[in-house]
Amino acid sequence: MKPEVQSRKIVVLSGSGLSAESGLPTFRDAQGLWKNHAWQDLASPEGWSRNPELVLEFYNERRQRAWEAQPNEAHRAIAELESDFDVVVVTQNVDALHERAGSTQVLHVHGELAYARSTSATPQRYKIDDAPIALGQLADDGTQLRPDIVWFGEQTQHMEEARWHVATAAKVLVVGTSLTVQPAASLVSAARGRAEKLLVSLDMERIPYGFRYLQGPATQHVPAIVERWRNAP
Ligand code: APR
Repeated sequence: MKPEVQSRKIVVLSGSGLSAESGLPTFRDAQGLWKNHAWQDLASPEGWSRNPELVLEFYNERRQRAWEAQPNEAHRAIAELESDFDVVVVTQNVDALHERAGSTQVLHVHGELAYARSTSATPQRYKIDDAPIALGQLADDGTQLRPDIVWFGEQTQHMEEARWHVATAAKVLVVGTSLTVQPAASLVSAARGRAEKLLVSLDMERIPYGFRYLQGPATQHVPAIVERWRNAP
């Protein structure tokens, strides 16, 4: 039995292309490199056990840059949708630009730079905003603090909840993601046939079934989509 579609519900599934116009490089633009280290060596449990100090430095720098970035027109338009719709943002982004633009229901499936967590079996989370994490900085339970980021090979977060939101949405807007990283990308398959399904990006290898593709920058397409949705009867 499929869950009921809610007529005023909108789900936005966002990726790094949405933050690109806020000056934060997409995963692919960065060619997956940082100081000649492959991201997989930095954003992975193996990289962490091999060189925790380098991983902390990598995320301290990304956390600082994300903190200095500002939400763009597309983030703000998505936040404005909340005045007329029940909006859930499911983001692969680890910056806080959706929240800083005013969105109040945001699920980070790949974690958040603004948080640290303990390395114990039941992780405790700490909001650190733009503060760096140092080697030797411990959580209350005495374990080393790490970035609250989902690394390659780790469990993506909030997937069940995110899938339920997509399945009950009357409108689904996918913006700024190449839909190449699983399982986050699989969320589009939960969108219902009768839902309005839009996809905004600069280039796409594959357009998911039933989605209308709007090629171009998020700051160009998203405000226009939001305007149309808010003014529709
Ligand atoms: N406006 C709209 N779309 C854009 C813009 C823009 N200004 N700039 C880039 N894009 C699009 C690109 O066309 C591409 O489809 O954003 C997408 C970026 O794709 P990726 O670099 O693969 O980023 P993303 O899909 O978010 O990667 C998924 O991989 O690195 C991991 O966990 C990380 O969340 C990330 C995940």
